[in-house]
Amino acid sequence: MAKPSGQITIPQFRGMKGSGERITMLTAYDYPFARLLDPLVEGLLVGDTMSMVVQGHGNTLPVTLDEMIYHAEMVGRAATHALVVVDMPFPSFHLGVYKAIENAGRILKETRCQAVKLEGGVDQAEVIAGLVSAGIPVMAHCGLRPQSVHQLGGYRVQRDEEQLLADAKAVEAAGAFAVVLECIPASMATKLTEQLSIPTIGIGAGAGCDGQILVTHDLLGLTSGYVPRFVKPYADIGAVVTKAVTEFRDDVRAGKFPGPEQQFK
Ligand code: KIV
Repeated sequence: MAKPSGQITIPQFRGMKGSGERITMLTAYDYPFARLLDPLVEGLLVGDTMSMVVQGHGNTLPVTLDEMIYHAEMVGRAATHALVVVDMPFPSFHLGVYKAIENAGRILKETRCQAVKLEGGVDQAEVIAGLVSAGIPVMAHCGLRPQSVHQLGGYRVQRDEEQLLADAKAVEAAGAFAVVLECIPASMATKLTEQLSIPTIGIGAGAGCDGQILVTHDLLGLTSGYVPRFVKPYADIGAVVTKAVTEFRDDVRAGKFPGPEQQFK
């Protein structure tokens, strides 16, 4: 079934840079959350953070392409307003341009999502250019690259300004329509945002970016364990769930549920 018109397109998303309107993005991994978030933000990301916040792994490496596609299809089905971007999981774009096009092509064909995101800078410019030439829109991801956690030795703020500038310029030249900047000093993100013609979407990169993204589970208090310093928790949904389920359990134990209204005569 065709999507209703009105969904934000790649040119519209890209055109938001310099419009004075900041871009808001959040992660989504399933249909009910995607439906709730879709009208409120400009972009939804089916992030490989799903590996951590949904699947319970310690990093983003275990999630597979098939699992990303399974979840992206739910999000793509729900979205009628926001642009939906899907992360290419490790190592679905590391085996050459041909393989990257095959894998990104599956994402676009099997979900209703419009773009892919991949971690990389200068080192992935050839892959990004290949995807773009195949008509596959790419959001790049520079700065901290969680898929390289073992090589980096942990999740650290990235401060190599020369490398960051080279990476950001390379992904822009390769045809990326936007770039996520993760965990870099705010002053560097502001400078990059001024120098690039494509929107910068920050996470732990300060207020000078063209837009912001957070992991929805972090924002809502649904993440168990470590939550990065750059997250502002706007709600404690975990506490709401605990309270509701405790009341339900206590009602069941006390014989108060189901009550007369929940029973058939
Ligand atoms: O996978 C993800 O959720 C991301 C965001 C943190 C930007 O890449």
